[in-house]
Amino acid sequence: MYYTNNKLQNGFTVDLLNWYRLHQRHLPWRETVDPYRIWLAETMLQQTQVATVIPYYQRWLGKFPTLKSVAKAHIDELLKYWEGLGYYRRCHYFHKAAKEVLTKHKGAIPRQLNMFRSLPGVGDYTASAVLSIAFNLPLVTMDGNVRRVGARLLRRRNLTPFNRRVIKHKLQRWLDQKRPGDFNQALMDLGNLVCRPNQAHCHTCPLTKYCQAYQTGRPENYPHVVRRKPIPHYQVVAGIIWHGNRFLIQRRPESGLLGGLWEFPGGKVQAGETSQAALLREIREECQAEVEVMGEIGSARHTYTHFSITFTLFHCRFQDADGVPNGATRRWITPTEVPNYAFPKVNHKLFSLLDQQGWYV
Ligand code: ADE
Repeated sequence: MYYTNNKLQNGFTVDLLNWYRLHQRHLPWRETVDPYRIWLAETMLQQTQVATVIPYYQRWLGKFPTLKSVAKAHIDELLKYWEGLGYYRRCHYFHKAAKEVLTKHKGAIPRQLNMFRSLPGVGDYTASAVLSIAFNLPLVTMDGNVRRVGARLLRRRNLTPFNRRVIKHKLQRWLDQKRPGDFNQALMDLGNLVCRPNQAHCHTCPLTKYCQAYQTGRPENYPHVVRRKPIPHYQVVAGIIWHGNRFLIQRRPESGLLGGLWEFPGGKVQAGETSQAALLREIREECQAEVEVMGEIGSARHTYTHFSITFTLFHCRFQDADGVPNGATRRWITPTEVPNYAFPKVNHKLFSLLDQQGWYV
């Protein structure tokens, strides 16, 4: 049964917004009406938890208080402020989009859905979140929390494309036309605070009278969660190649995983290969030079979306370091210069180890 009559629709929205007034999370991006800040927050919040985002958001705004300051910055500087947040493509796109707003929209973030949606990195989620929160456009925002709340309200077990459309359509009809941003964020908070994946705290929920899964007595059965396939694990080796008190770092290509971040020469260990043989091979391929391996520093594990790695770092030395000069994507730096470059998180795990060991060989 769907609650389509107006009285119930209004009741739903009023109950939800009343709950939000009393129980909402107080988050830094809710204390502003600046569309740039809201857009930044929604970009950082894609695939990343609120608690992780908060310090990044605040640090970023301390350095880049306006969209113009983002557009004018060099991508390396932006990446340094994104370092550790992951999914670096978001940062590249945000930079591109900021430049486009300056050049094509006279610096004003477009309020029309099709215009905003056509900026780099802006998908349905970001567009509906930013435009509803910053400009009151009546667009429902479907994130994981909202989808789960919707699946329970409508008792949809499988999140098939059809059911996703049904949920969106239904929430779109319930959406508060005057406060769409609050409506969306109220559903996000309800999903985060009350209607939890493994525990729906129905006794504190303002929406039980509209909820079909509640009526079954087993709301946690909705929606059915598809277990992710196990991800592969790889051994990765890299060399910290010394020349005096400097070592070599390389910039990863802009597109692809960890795009634009700096790292040590190295790569994946192949089947049947020893770590050291892999290291020599990778450095030969990347630097066209031979190294001598001087000793192992240690290992760290890291999990990415589609695989995990054990990353092992070795102290090395080139037989002829002068044959590997500085360049746009290659630098010889001292340990004190590490903070000037953005490195993948797994490298930082080993920097701590190097700090303890005193860095030098
Ligand atoms: N996740 C994504 N957008 C959010 C928002 N505006 N508030 C809280 N959590 C969110």
